[in-house]
Amino acid sequence: MKLSKSRWLLIIVSLGVIIPFMAPYLTFDPSMSRVPITSTSIQYPVLVGHILFAFIALVSGFFQFIDRIRIHKPIIHRYLGRIYVCSVFISGLLALVVIFYIEDFSKAISFLALSLIWLFTTWKGYRTAVRKRFDEHKKWMIRSFGMTLVAVSGRVLVPVLLFAYYTLNVFSLPGGREKMIEEVLNVNIWAGIILNFIIIEWMILKSSKTQK
Ligand code: HEM
Repeated sequence: MKLSKSRWLLIIVSLGVIIPFMAPYLTFDPSMSRVPITSTSIQYPVLVGHILFAFIALVSGFFQFIDRIRIHKPIIHRYLGRIYVCSVFISGLLALVVIFYIEDFSKAISFLALSLIWLFTTWKGYRTAVRKRFDEHKKWMIRSFGMTLVAVSGRVLVPVLLFAYYTLNVFSLPGGREKMIEEVLNVNIWAGIILNFIIIEWMILKSSKTQK
């Protein structure tokens, strides 16, 4: 199982960022939720379901980009691929429900855009595999996994956005610290989508140029 240093770094950073965020939800105790739980009906179980399946998608996704497995163990690649696709669909559809409980409009729309792009790119990746169009399949799956990783980049970008907020307000905090954090947490998913989109499309362009 040979992985380049940058891929190991990506795996370690991703798990290092996501596991602490997930931890309170593994207690299955709504009072530990960081996301405000405003309804006693389905909100909390749906949120926990979303998080658990998203984590399965994240971990299974990492295995799909290990060349040794993909090239030399196609059966394992196919099984893990099915697990990845099913968990994205379940987690992405549950996210569509969670969005109804988000109060801020900009934040809700950022998660809506993310879940629709996630479901769409994964669907295209699945369909192209079924039709044996493997060049396209690879591109769509890179796009899909790039969207999975918005859960990481959106959080990694928070300190950068806090600094940008402070700088754009000419080194002052007009509404105080809480306002700054609130504003940043309302836009960090947008920033993650844009950043990952640029990186993924650049990687796809670069690899199709080197193949020519
Ligand atoms: C890529 C598509 C994804 C979408 C559309 C999405 C959507 C959401 C939404 C709507 C929330 C609730 C946010 C709030 O109310 O403030 C949430 C929370 C959460 N999601 Fe996802 N998510 C995605 C991917 C992931 C992935 C890959 C993971 C990794 C395991 C993940 C883990 C979490 C965690 C831990 C929370 C709770 C956050 C907190 O406590 O602050 N999500 N997600």
